[in-house]
Amino acid sequence: MLFMCHQMAMKKEAQEKLKAEELRKAQAASEIPIIWILGGPGCGKGTQCAKIVEKYGFTHLSSGDLLRNEVASGSDKGRQLQAVMSSGGLVSNDEVLSLLNDAISRAKGSSKGFLIDGYPREKNQGVAFEERIAPADLALYFDCSEDTMLKRIMARAAAAAVKRADDNEQTIRARLQTFKLNTSAILELYADKTLTINAERDVDDIFQEVVQAIECVLKKKAKAAAQC
Ligand code: AP5
Repeated sequence: MLFMCHQMAMKKEAQEKLKAEELRKAQAASEIPIIWILGGPGCGKGTQCAKIVEKYGFTHLSSGDLLRNEVASGSDKGRQLQAVMSSGGLVSNDEVLSLLNDAISRAKGSSKGFLIDGYPREKNQGVAFEERIAPADLALYFDCSEDTMLKRIMARAAAAAVKRADDNEQTIRARLQTFKLNTSAILELYADKTLTINAERDVDDIFQEVVQAIECVLKKKAKAAAQC
């Protein structure tokens, strides 16, 4: 019995490896890039994504926006999500990945590229995404000091007609702490596909560097697709 269980587990593992390898090959051959957008709260992820969408017409999927949509629906699940988000912690990856997976599936036929904003926020999220959805082609990490991030969010909150529930100083500090705890492990694991960008500069200067990185990925993907 123990032997049969072991064999079944080995078979499952082999099937999962095969599926991951097929996904990797399919994504390498696809001309549609998947780009992870990383960085702490208020570093400018959403701002840069808006500019990328304007230039390239990519599909922007923000994990935070997907979660806020669920909260706005008023469902029980939404109430549970709101509690976690207001504490500055991370929502369970099953919730986030399932929302992302659904959104990607809906857009897949017509998308020119995917910007996955605010994901992964911890190492295992990256692993699960690449196993279940597809490998990312590039990760853009917007590097910014805590002081700047705090000031930017406070300014955004002061100017907003409708303030986000997590844009208050106490929750921002907790969000910064969550970010600090998890980010170095992500950057280490995905060092080969991550470009770190100094996000303390002017929006347009940052965007110039973003464009260079995206052009490079698009060229690589077009070349790889032509060879397949
Ligand atoms: P999320 O909605 O992703 O929030 P965040 O990461 O905290 O980031 P923000 O949206 O606040 O900021 P941003 O980096 O987009 O900056 P922006 O461009 O707006 O997540 C919220 C919560 O959801 C999380 O805390 C967590 O609970 C949950 N969650 C989300 N993803 C999850 C996941 N994967 N797993 C588990 N839980 C998850 O810019 C900020 C301000 O600065 C703006 O006013 C802007 O105009 C200004 N600004 C931007 N760039 C510049 C610049 N270069 N110079 C001057 N000002 C600038």
